Amino acid sequence: IKKIGVMTSGGDSPGMNAAIRSVVRTCAYHNVECVGIYRGYEGVMEGDFKAMDARSVKDIINKGGTILKSARSKEFRTPEGRKIAHQKLQDAGVEALVVIGGDGTFNGGLVFNKEFNFPIIGIPGTIDNDIFGTSHTLGFDTALNTVVECIDKIRDTASSHNRLFFVEVMGRDVGHIALNAGVGAGAEEILIPEENLGLERLLESLQRSKRSGKSSSIVVVAEGDKIGKNVFELKDYVEANLDEYDVRVSVLGHMQRGGPPSCFDRVLASRMGVKAVESLLEGKSNYMVGLLNNKMTLTPLEQAVKGKSQINRELLRVSEIMST
Ligand code: F6P
Repeated sequence: IKKIGVMTSGGDSPGMNAAIRSVVRTCAYHNVECVGIYRGYEGVMEGDFKAMDARSVKDIINKGGTILKSARSKEFRTPEGRKIAHQKLQDAGVEALVVIGGDGTFNGGLVFNKEFNFPIIGIPGTIDNDIFGTSHTLGFDTALNTVVECIDKIRDTASSHNRLFFVEVMGRDVGHIALNAGVGAGAEEILIPEENLGLERLLESLQRSKRSGKSSSIVVVAEGDKIGKNVFELKDYVEANLDEYDVRVSVLGHMQRGGPPSCFDRVLASRMGVKAVESLLEGKSNYMVGLLNNKMTLTPLEQAVKGKSQINRELLRVSEIMST
């Protein structure tokens, strides 16, 4: 392989830039040309490429977002779109791709590989941590730190005014952020899609904590929670059923996706970039680089896409015990 393309696709996450830097520098180290592709698969179809050398990625290890920009492409889902993309890569002499993103990104890569036998390695980048085959995706650790910092601040108001706060965090289909940040921030209850607590149980728990002498409480809610009510409806429901609580809602939103990556995410991104490029150079394709037991691993992309990332159930129990 003489030329490798690197791109970011889907939702951005802190650590993507550190991964781009690592891919570019590993290519330079092995005397392989590297091109950056803008806006994910959109940019592949448009031939929006830029040659990148080791110096072109200076000063980005500490930056959130992605300098290559990101997009979710509809056209790449069509055979016609993928044919154009393949032609553009051939025209530019790009022989393999490192794709950084989530399962949508990997699905696109898989289909593309099947059609054109084009070598692809994936790097998991999403704050949601919802990818099978890695204990951590890029950006997850940074997002957790951001959420904990926000809840620490919210706690000041909660305790000064004896209030109950519902804090909504990201996690469309999974509760990793809610569960980990909830334990880290000392939340009273944590509502996640994987576990339906039920409204009755929530009310009982809040009543119990009042009785045990707590004057304020934080409940962390994953946006994909299946309790059947959104966070504002939850507030109304609790206020209607428990008059001892003064309730507020805080939706953290996209601030969770931005900001400088944590040291953990920078190190992880650097390791993943090296592993991705060196795997391609060893002739491997259709794998996702991951972190398992602090070792770099390769999981077939197909499994990474199909497998379900499991929440850490031990944390549910820890949370329950901590809210005694
Ligand atoms: O990056 C994943 C995620 O943060 C989800 O938790 C959330 O539902 C989604 O992105 C929102 O993304 P967007 O605003 O880009 O559609």
